[in-house]
Amino acid sequence: MSVDIFPFDPDKASDAELRGQYELAIAAFSVDRPDAPKPGYDTFVGRLRAIPPGVGRQRFWAARRQGHLAGLAITQLSRSEDDNSIVVDVRVHPELRRQGIGTALLRRALGGSSAEGRELIVGRGVTAGGDGEQWIRARGFTVVQRVALQVLRVPEVDPALWEVPVPAGHRLEQWTGAAPDTLVESFARARGAIHDAPVGDSSYRHPHWSVPRVRQAEHDARRRGVEHRAVVVVHEASDAVVGLTELEIFPGMPDTAVQQDTAVLPRHRGRGLGRTVKAAMMRWLLAERPEIRLVVTNVDAGNDYMTRVNHQLGYVTTRIMLTAEAALGALESRLSALAWERGMP
Ligand SMILES: CC(C)(COP(=O)(O)OP(=O)(O)OC[C@H]1O[C@@H](n2cnc3c(N)ncnc32)[C@H](O)[C@@H]1OP(=O)(O)O)[C@@H](O)C(=O)NCCC(=O)NCCS
Repeated sequence: MSVDIFPFDPDKASDAELRGQYELAIAAFSVDRPDAPKPGYDTFVGRLRAIPPGVGRQRFWAARRQGHLAGLAITQLSRSEDDNSIVVDVRVHPELRRQGIGTALLRRALGGSSAEGRELIVGRGVTAGGDGEQWIRARGFTVVQRVALQVLRVPEVDPALWEVPVPAGHRLEQWTGAAPDTLVESFARARGAIHDAPVGDSSYRHPHWSVPRVRQAEHDARRRGVEHRAVVVVHEASDAVVGLTELEIFPGMPDTAVQQDTAVLPRHRGRGLGRTVKAAMMRWLLAERPEIRLVVTNVDAGNDYMTRVNHQLGYVTTRIMLTAEAALGALESRLSALAWERGMP
């Protein structure tokens, strides 16, 4: 039975097409992420259209079988010129799985990637133990990292957990959008501490943070319509940022905040600064954005320190997700051989 695969543009799609995508996603999420609250339609469309941090280009392909929407593939290329990877996400309607649709979508989505100099295919957010894990393994990907999805459901958490004092000799600073000129240099330096965060066997490398890179990231967030907040802890004796946390609110997702990087410089670890900045972020966030009901974050499943801090603040681990990688050339050869065998596109 044939499957039709065609490009899809969420910015130009009709309401009926977006509704179809929404129904497909809800059906898939209820099987693949039963723990997660189902997004409303507007939130879903907002997420589909949002360009995540660091992503320069995003493309979509939809699959149709017998006139019905059957699946979606999304590829993302990072803005960084020295990144040779392509991130791919594929979903197929639960009632139409094991018919080769996911494989056909993957093949189409990757077409032309080698000509663009890409060498590595990365899949993220694959639920451990689910259909996705079976599929990535069957398609020859290697699991390179286990990541815990943690969520803080604001109405269920006692705000007293965020009343964390600032250790003596330190002060907090916070901003939305752009770091003040007086702190941006030490902020960029402190951001580099994220390099110590474990990434398993993943090829992903955190960027080298410099003042121009910080300014570029701030510019990017503005361009994407993202509200970007930072809370930092300043070591008073040196008047320098020694710890930080960042959080983003995406357009179309007004009740959800995404907790991004948290890092403390090595010499300042062990004094509770990570918990201090994250707690301060929660107090500030909810004072200004009382409509936020959910804060989500990802942490390497083996990062005990960050996991413990998050639990102390009211986050719960809801799912383990896998990151998987495959070399593009080898994957394309396997996919072509399969397609030829099965007469798929
Ligand atoms: C992953 C996903 C896209 C696969 O879609 P699909 O159309 O079912 O995939 P295919 O039919 O191309 O599967 C190819 C092979 O993968 C393996 N496979 C896929 N799902 C499997 C499962 N649940 N159990 C065992 N093997 C499985 C099989 O070897 C299968 O071939 P076979 O049916 O001939 O035995 C689909 O399960 C899905 O939407 N999952 C949730 C999202 C996700 O995790 N995506 C991966 C992110 S990159």
